[in-house]
Amino acid sequence: MRVLLLGSGAREHALAWKLAQSPNLKWLCSAPGNPGTEGHNMPVTLNDADQVQRLAGEIEPDLIVVGPEAPLVAGLADQLMGMGFPVFGPTAAAARIEGSKAFAKEVMQQAGVPTAEARVFDSVEEAVSHARSLGNVVVKADGLAAGKGVVVAKGADEAEAAVRSLAALGPAGKRLLLEELLEGEEVSVIALCDGERYVLLPPAQDHKRVGDGDTGPNTGGMGAYSPVPFLDEAALRWTGEHVIGPTLSELSRRGTPFRGALYAGLMLTRGGPRVLEFNCRFGDPETQVLVLQLEEDLLPLLDECARGRLEPRPLRFRPGASVGVVLAAAGYPGAPRTGDPIEGLEEVGPKVRVFHGGTRREGVRLVTAGGRVLTVCASGQSLAAARERAYSGVARIRFPGSHHRRDIGARALGYRP
Ligand code: AMP
Ligand code: GLY
Repeated sequence: MRVLLLGSGAREHALAWKLAQSPNLKWLCSAPGNPGTEGHNMPVTLNDADQVQRLAGEIEPDLIVVGPEAPLVAGLADQLMGMGFPVFGPTAAAARIEGSKAFAKEVMQQAGVPTAEARVFDSVEEAVSHARSLGNVVVKADGLAAGKGVVVAKGADEAEAAVRSLAALGPAGKRLLLEELLEGEEVSVIALCDGERYVLLPPAQDHKRVGDGDTGPNTGGMGAYSPVPFLDEAALRWTGEHVIGPTLSELSRRGTPFRGALYAGLMLTRGGPRVLEFNCRFGDPETQVLVLQLEEDLLPLLDECARGRLEPRPLRFRPGASVGVVLAAAGYPGAPRTGDPIEGLEEVGPKVRVFHGGTRREGVRLVTAGGRVLTVCASGQSLAAARERAYSGVARIRFPGSHHRRDIGARALGYRP
C-alpha cells in the first residue's frame, strides 16, 4: 500500500516509524514531515486544502492518514474523501467532537456518557456571574484554542478572570462552558474507529503541566507512559462500552459517523471515570509510547477504519511499559526560541527511540524549530526499567535552553491497586 501521512509533529514521526515496519507498506510519504522522517517528506501547507488535494492527486495514495486536528475540523478529510481516497481521520461534522466543546457535551449527554456537568454561555456577563457564584470551576472556550482554552479556577476572582481571558481569545471563546471541577488521575484512552466499530489502544497518561509535580502552565503534553496502572483491563473495557461505543453510536445516528482515532480524555474520579474532553485524532505525546507498545501491524488497522471495515479484536501489546519524555525549547509553553543547535542524538543507544517534533535541518546541523522539540522514548520489562532507559537517552541530548520533566510516570511507580 502507498500511504500519505499528513502532519509534522513527533506524533506523525512515531506513526511513520510504525507504518514503515509494515510488510504491507509499499511507500510512505510524510507531508510536510520533519527531519525525523527525512527521505520521504513532501512539502505542503496543511491548512491550504487546495495544496493538499493537489499533492494527493499527484501521488494517488491508497490511504491518507491525517495527524492534527485543525485540518480535520476544517474539513480536509471531507475534501480528500470527495476525491475518492480512503482517509483515516473524521469528517468536519464528526471532528466537531473536538472542535466544539459544547457540541461534545451535547453528544455525551444524549449518549449517556459520564462527563463533568457543564453549562454553556453565549454572554460573557452571564458567564461571569455564574462563574463567581460557583467559585471553583473549570472555564472552557468552546472552540479550538491550541491547548490554551481551559482554565481551572479556584475562587470567585480567578473564575471571573478566567471567563474574561477566555472570552478575549477570539472566535474560540465566543461561547464558553463552565464545568464542574473534578479530581482524580487523568488518563487518555484512544480508540481506532471505522464509524461503527472500534478497537482500543491501552491507556496512556500524559503530563500536561510544564513543571515537575504538575506545576506551572499547561502545555501540549510533556511526556507520557503506557499502560497506566490506574485503569486496568476491566476498566478499559468499561470505557469502551460506556464511552467510546455510545459516542460512536450517537454520531452515527446523527448521520455523521466517526472514522479515525477517537481520543477520550478521562478523569478517574471516586465516582468512576468521567470524560473531560474528546479529541478527534491521536494524542501527542501518547502516540509516541503507544506505537512502541503495539505489537501488531498498524497499517491494516488504519486502512480498515478508513474503509469502514474494521474487524473488532483485542490487539496485541508488548509486556512491560513504554515511556516518552518531551524535550522542550527555551520559552515553551510561551513563544519558543528556535535555531538552537541540537547535539547528542547519535549517543542515545539502540534501545532509545527519539521522535522529532520541533526540529529543522540547517545545512548539516539539526536545530530547534518549535516548542516540543523531541520525544525521547524507551520500552522496558517494567515501567521503572522503561523510565530508566528513556532518561538515559534524555541525558545524552543537549541544546541550549532545553527543559523537560523528571517525573514522567513517577506517580505510577509506587501504585498498588
Ligand atoms: P482539556 O483541553 O479539556 O483536556 O483540558 C485541559 C486540562 O484541564 C485537562 O487535561 C485537565 O487537566 C483540566 N481539566 C479539564 N476539565 C476539567 C474538569 N472538569 N475538572 C478538572 N480539571 C479539568
Ligand atoms: N496529549 C494531549 C493531546 O494530544 O491533546
